[in-house]
Amino acid sequence: MLRTHTCGELSKANIGKEVALAGWVHTRRDHGDVIFIDMRDTYGVTQLVFDPKRNSAMHGKAHELRSEYVIQAKGIVQKRPAGMENRKLPTGEIEIFVKALEILNPSLTPPFLVDEALAVSDEMRLRYRYIDLRRPHMQKNMRLRHKIQSSMRAFLEKHNFTEIETPFLTRSTPEGARDYLVPSRPNPGKFYALPQSPQLFKQILMVSGFDRYFQIARCFRDEDLRKDRQPEFTQLDVEMSFVTQDDIFELSEGLMKKIFKECMNVSIGTPFKRLTYIEAMERFGTDKPDTRFGMELVKLTEALRETKFNIFRKNLDKDGCIYAMNAKGHGKISRSKLDGLILKAKEYGAGGLAYFKCEKNGLTSNIDKFFEKKELDSIKSLTRAEDSDLILIVSDKKNVALTVLGTLRLDIAKESGLIDTNKNEILWITDFPLFKYSEEEKRWVSEHHPFTRCREEDIKLLDTEDLGRIRALSYDLVINGAEIASGSIRIHEEGLQQKIFKAIGFKKEEITRRFGFLIEAFRYGAPPHGGIAFGLDRFTTIFTKSESIRDVIAFPKTQKAICPLTGAPSEASDAQLKELGIKKSKGGQ
Ligand code: AMO
Repeated sequence: MLRTHTCGELSKANIGKEVALAGWVHTRRDHGDVIFIDMRDTYGVTQLVFDPKRNSAMHGKAHELRSEYVIQAKGIVQKRPAGMENRKLPTGEIEIFVKALEILNPSLTPPFLVDEALAVSDEMRLRYRYIDLRRPHMQKNMRLRHKIQSSMRAFLEKHNFTEIETPFLTRSTPEGARDYLVPSRPNPGKFYALPQSPQLFKQILMVSGFDRYFQIARCFRDEDLRKDRQPEFTQLDVEMSFVTQDDIFELSEGLMKKIFKECMNVSIGTPFKRLTYIEAMERFGTDKPDTRFGMELVKLTEALRETKFNIFRKNLDKDGCIYAMNAKGHGKISRSKLDGLILKAKEYGAGGLAYFKCEKNGLTSNIDKFFEKKELDSIKSLTRAEDSDLILIVSDKKNVALTVLGTLRLDIAKESGLIDTNKNEILWITDFPLFKYSEEEKRWVSEHHPFTRCREEDIKLLDTEDLGRIRALSYDLVINGAEIASGSIRIHEEGLQQKIFKAIGFKKEEITRRFGFLIEAFRYGAPPHGGIAFGLDRFTTIFTKSESIRDVIAFPKTQKAICPLTGAPSEASDAQLKELGIKKSKGGQ
């Protein structure tokens, strides 16, 4: 080894000892005569001293050192002079008096310093990712990610799971995004699709008799990127045979409990709370509610059924709804902030946003004259409004009213610091609808994916027009308002699977072409099975309290799916394209 110790471990106990350290020049401070170098490795920082009076040759050499030079320093551990200690550093009571210094590799002036406090653009961070990754918080994030993965593996191994890898070069897996396609050279004109998830293979592994499978699996989805989405991301993917939904919940809760304890030293209570999809939507306006704070939504439709206020009246006559939210303590909001909320509500899709301020003498608003006292009293009591509260109301189609208020709820809570970020609120969302109607495609589509089973008592609805009422045996795990995992009990019978495919408009020929192999497997003794997949990147984002999913992935892509470090994606050469039988269209697009 080029070192006897790391830069994070020397202390008073080592005083007088001869040591060798290797690492990077973190900072250099020239105090007239004496030069101090903070030397860094992944374990910490140790101060080196170069005193010309004691060793002028070394002092001369220290003048050559610059940020991020890689060096080896040999010397004696000594106590720092009284008053010079750095209590914030584990090594802050000692320093190394350097007797031999070797520059192992110089560095160009780095584009930014390895300094936590420095604001660096995302583009620069990703372009010089190897420097960004040297920052202590990024090192900590990657190590925590590793620890989470190790904990997961150990837990699942203990519970008799087998880790099995599934192919990357495969067929399309319908998880709702666009596929990344890979041309096949030996099969001109044919393409593999990179898996959006190992969904079909894990089901086939159950048919293969493995009983309990897991994989820390890379998934690829060509979709619009957001703060919590990456085109390639990692799932802890799990599948089990002969299980019910409760079995999967119990296993997942045990896994979460262990990871929170081992990786965060936080004890979480189990079983987790459960909310049905409908309850979550009606109380929080979203299927991934952040329950670390209140401000729940309230239905006013019945209380205002006879309203004469024109806008509400028109909506109610068109089967619309009225929902409200009490923004606690916001009654003194300024006119401009209120206008800001109204603008946001419109951006989120509502026709408008009504409001009432709750004051000593009752509810006041620009529209209060259109309401009878009885109605105002109902609004006040249903929203439990008190002096200085602000009631926000949306009247629209049910879904619009709920989602707009749900989004405003989050905005207001974030802006006014209502969310206790030390709290962890974990819950299951159950009973999702099996299908949702796509206005765009004018057909029913799967809410989760088409291999999801529905409640036995709802199977009969598959033969009716009432597809929207069918409840799926699918579930999401939500932590602090983020969807962390998702899964379902699967269909294992050919007949039911065919029925579901037909319900979402797949033609017989298409079913055979795309999923014939799965249907065929179901004919050879498929056990009842179900599973779940945890978004490892999202999960780690919560654990590290990171702003973005990119902070827990070593080499992530930008919002435009570009890797600034390698320059991917890049052009293919004409020779490569020719070999693959691919022709560029005019303009090279
Ligand atoms: P689903 O598509 O809901 O389910 O994905 C499971 C979990 O993966 C995470 N996730 C993502 N994370 C980062 N970037 C993305 N683009 C992204 N997309 C999804 C989320 C999500 O909850 N095969 C099913 C699972 C199953 O039924 O067992 C599936 O993939 O945390």
